Amino acid sequence: MKIGVPKEIKIGETRVSMTPSLCRRCVSLGAKVLIQKSAGLSAGFTDAEYRAAGAALVADAAIVWKSADLILKVKEPLKSEYGLLQDGQALFTYLHLAAGPDLAKLLLKKRILGIAYETVEGSDGAFPLLKPMSQIAGRLAIQVGAYFLQSQHGGSGVLLGGIPGTLPGHVVVVGAGNSGAHAVQMAAGMGARVTVLDLDTRKLEGLDSEYRGRVVTLMSNLANLESCVADADLLVGAVLIPAAKAPTVVTRAMVAKMRPGGVIVDIAIDQGGCIESIRPTSHKEPVYREHGINHYAVPNMPALVGRTSTQGLTQATEPYVALLVQKGIETALADHPGLARGVNTRDGRITNDAVARALGFA
Ligand SMILES: NC(=O)c1ccc[n+]([C@@H]2O[C@H](COP(=O)([O-])OP(=O)(O)OC[C@H]3O[C@@H](n4cnc5c(N)ncnc54)[C@H](O)[C@@H]3O)[C@@H](O)[C@H]2O)c1
Repeated sequence: MKIGVPKEIKIGETRVSMTPSLCRRCVSLGAKVLIQKSAGLSAGFTDAEYRAAGAALVADAAIVWKSADLILKVKEPLKSEYGLLQDGQALFTYLHLAAGPDLAKLLLKKRILGIAYETVEGSDGAFPLLKPMSQIAGRLAIQVGAYFLQSQHGGSGVLLGGIPGTLPGHVVVVGAGNSGAHAVQMAAGMGARVTVLDLDTRKLEGLDSEYRGRVVTLMSNLANLESCVADADLLVGAVLIPAAKAPTVVTRAMVAKMRPGGVIVDIAIDQGGCIESIRPTSHKEPVYREHGINHYAVPNMPALVGRTSTQGLTQATEPYVALLVQKGIETALADHPGLARGVNTRDGRITNDAVARALGFA
């Protein structure tokens, strides 16, 4: 099997889909690995390290795409990459098709076998390839939110932890899953006042017992959302309905009642966002101001910490990549239902029900 690893080109992206260590594993299992030159540089991996691990390096992205049976990426292909996809090729990456109808159309037209990291399922029904990036995005949400609360960035000038004799900032996290729980952990660690809302009482019970009253857990309903959002200095959106477009949980009217200079970080933007006033931003221009609130909605937040993110991502993808190499793509998918759940497109059809519904195919 030939595996192609293109350099990521999304604005500010620093991750790479394969470390030299994963490369060595694939080569030892019999794969040929073709990596675009400098693909790993912003994550701290040099071309020499990939060469030593057995990869062939090429300068031209088009050659990587053209020669590979399996393209291993981090982010979904961008418009400028659409022409590079080869008919019938396999693509293993984050796809987020529910928020990407144009890409979905292209994958169908080119009959791409699109295996989405975010819908690969573990034996426990969880999403092991989404988890590490969600953990990172959750932690970063507090770091980034604290930064944009600073007066010099148009924020209210609230220090999340406060100091003795002052009120700490109030961090409200909507969604208590992987990203939400890690946002809670960071916010509590900084000494903020933290409230977290979810529909799943088990998630709330887990956080309640972990923080023993240091964090307020609330059912995510209209009344609780209205009162919490109005009092938030930093609001974090961390909601997910697997594979589907994110539901609008926080309305524009709620945002309009926040104190001026507050900050919103909507982690769920890659699935369309869960806050009505949100639209995607980029690492180049990460925030915009609406209703007096700094809105941050970068769909590839983990790129802020390319080294940790690449290590976190590839340690999760490695077992699946190894399976695809060892068994071949078709046998690997037939033998591993969890990996097969990652297939979003094949033979010109959408194969994931939630994605099909979100795109109006079902
Ligand atoms: N922006 C980025 O860079 C980035 C990085 C990683 C992940 N993400 C995205 O972050 C989002 C969250 O991912 P996750 O891994 O934390 O998901 P998760 O499944 O672990 O958690 C989502 C939580 O949302 C809760 N939820 C659903 N509907 C709700 C509602 N109406 N109110 C409150 N809670 C509700 C669920 O019960 C669940 O606990 C996803 O869209 C994911 O793709 C974005």
